[in-house]
Amino acid sequence: MTDTDVPSSPAELLAQLTLEEKAALLDGSDFWHTEPVQRLGIPALMVTDGPHGLRKQSEGGDHLGLNASVPATCFPPAAGLASSWNVELLQRVGEALGRETRAEKVSVLLGPGVNMKRSPLCGRNFEYFSEDPVLAGDLAAAMVAGVQSQGVGTSLKHYAANNQETQRMTISADVDERTLREIYLTAFERVVKKAQPWTVMCSYNRINGVYASEDPWLLTRVLREEWGFEGLVVSDWGAVNVREDGVRAGLDLEMPSSSGAGTRRIVEAVNAGTLSTEALDKAVLNVLNLVEKARAALADPGSFDVDAHHALAREAATQSAVLLKNEQNALPLAATGGTVAVVGEFARTPRYQGAGSSQVNPTRLDDALSALTAQFQGSREVTFAAGYVPESEEAAEELVSQAVAHAAAAEVVVVFLGLPASYESEGYDREHTNLPPTQLDLLERVVAANPNVVVVLANGSVVNLEPWQHSVKAVLEGWLGGQAGGGAVADLLCGVANPSGKLAETIPVNYRDNPTIGNFPGEQGHVRYGEGLLVGYRWYDARSLPVAAAFGHGLSYTTFEYSDLQLQAGENGLDVHVTIRNSGDVAGSEVVQVYVADTEASVSRPDAELKGFARVTLEPGESREVVVTLDERAFSFWHTTAGRWVVEGGEFGVRVGASSRDIRLATTIELPGDGVVTPLAQDSEAEEWLAHPSAGEKVREALEGTAWSEMMFDPHNGQMMRAIPLLRLTRFPGFPIAESDLPKLLSEADAS
Ligand code: BGC
Repeated sequence: MTDTDVPSSPAELLAQLTLEEKAALLDGSDFWHTEPVQRLGIPALMVTDGPHGLRKQSEGGDHLGLNASVPATCFPPAAGLASSWNVELLQRVGEALGRETRAEKVSVLLGPGVNMKRSPLCGRNFEYFSEDPVLAGDLAAAMVAGVQSQGVGTSLKHYAANNQETQRMTISADVDERTLREIYLTAFERVVKKAQPWTVMCSYNRINGVYASEDPWLLTRVLREEWGFEGLVVSDWGAVNVREDGVRAGLDLEMPSSSGAGTRRIVEAVNAGTLSTEALDKAVLNVLNLVEKARAALADPGSFDVDAHHALAREAATQSAVLLKNEQNALPLAATGGTVAVVGEFARTPRYQGAGSSQVNPTRLDDALSALTAQFQGSREVTFAAGYVPESEEAAEELVSQAVAHAAAAEVVVVFLGLPASYESEGYDREHTNLPPTQLDLLERVVAANPNVVVVLANGSVVNLEPWQHSVKAVLEGWLGGQAGGGAVADLLCGVANPSGKLAETIPVNYRDNPTIGNFPGEQGHVRYGEGLLVGYRWYDARSLPVAAAFGHGLSYTTFEYSDLQLQAGENGLDVHVTIRNSGDVAGSEVVQVYVADTEASVSRPDAELKGFARVTLEPGESREVVVTLDERAFSFWHTTAGRWVVEGGEFGVRVGASSRDIRLATTIELPGDGVVTPLAQDSEAEEWLAHPSAGEKVREALEGTAWSEMMFDPHNGQMMRAIPLLRLTRFPGFPIAESDLPKLLSEADAS
């Protein structure tokens, strides 16, 4: 049978497999392929990195990005794409990635990665979307839907709490359940529920001491039973610890091939009765289902349009760039005028993607210098000076002097700065967020020669702006722009395109302000997520800390007015209506951000959290009503005792703005809440007993008319009294409730 014949169903195939064949199907056959079963026509599937482009290695497989791969479109990595806040764009990028994946007969693209940017120092932040789970989750869901619309799968990774590269294969992320649920799992949950990725990739690390690859709570209870995941769980490359424990926990496929070791262990465990056939069959069925889904595309791979995908990569890079600062309208550069001095090697030799497993071999590569020169052809003179050698720590005096001379002779200087590739990569974390000293020195000397300076940045994770941003006129954060980033930057600088990106992560004044200081990257095998929920802007807001650039910030060449904020009950929740008007002179796009604040909570909650957003494109003078729907989850928190999401009745703030620190309109709403009743125990505090809807009344009745009642509700001492567990109060002389009354009170409370 060939892999294109009509095959038996997964269930029929399962019934025909031997134990050895089943175990082998749960192991890779090499670096990138699953195991085939020739006699039953089960093909080997190819899976391949990575999130922003296909890295299909034709020979010499490795997972570290060392060996070459076939040419593929290199879109901007997630740090850039996320700054577009554009789900529709992510969907289209996903579709293009899906077409390329399909055309190369690859069945699963290994991405996207939705881990939170807990620390600005994580070496892999360029590959992740945001410090906010709603933004990361919604963008990644669109990308997954796009890829999978082409008949190939995705692998949502790295599940979960893989927020650093230091000791990534062994570290235990020690994090409380509420923080896990509200911050670290939410993005995964949103993608699973909205887009059903074909596969989820478990992470290398441990969570609270348990390897993700063998954690039944993570892989089965939460992922499958609570969220309804229907696909296959694959290990990150080399994440398997004890293979049979993994199968039992819900890890289906081990990658890459374990050279037979995993297969042997599974067979032995089943024969010894320590691994049930039921658990084995479940995992095998997940592999067979994946094969089933992949067949159609393998039989009809199709092709893709290299030019069209390059154009899409340019559009994506344009929307990914964030205009951080633009004093005296330094940008856009006028179409005519004096010389434009372009300074910085990155203008000529772009840094456009990160290092490691996601490294793509691009179909072509644009550089900003050529694109700018072309834009100004015949209208403005463009000069170039390299200024620095990216990977060199030594100041190149000759290069700097040349750059200074160019700057002095020009009307405006565009300085391209950024992180050399070795500054950020999969596999290790950063030690600081500074640009290389050679670049900072260069900038200082250029500014001294000509203060009319615009800086363009190329970096995958945030860099320290404070030491120099006040000395320049404008800063355009281009992130790692992918293969067409050079052209995109030129379009933005010249005003052919209008910047519309917004920061998906805060840029702190100093990285030492960030919430993980003291708890990153951990010690002795453990990293304590001591900041709890206060990740990113949640932390800076809680501490009222100044930031260099706020979460959600991004300027435009036009301005937008916000008006008419209204809340209305809608079909899927609370609809937030707001009217946005382009009050400037050029067309532009605005990202409307909706933050929710729980102002009267019984638990500690962040000041305000992003719960929805929408992007709107408007001509000059045009207005449009934007509607963002907030579902129940937007108001809820994870109630650890009740073990579920809870909306607590009371007042909530709904704030609409252009960034987390630029709130334009705000209102409040009173919600009834869903009446969670915290279960009582004999030793619950009197306060908790009194708050209980039925038991509280009984306790009050018993106290009525006694001196205890006065003490209990005294405005000064009452709080101290009510903090005493009821069980202990019963033992105080004269207390009107006896210890022996408690079981009855409890069972009545439970029954109510
Ligand atoms: C990375 C994954 C990647 C895999 C395969 C691992 O080292 O963590 O993100 O998909 O290798 O290359």
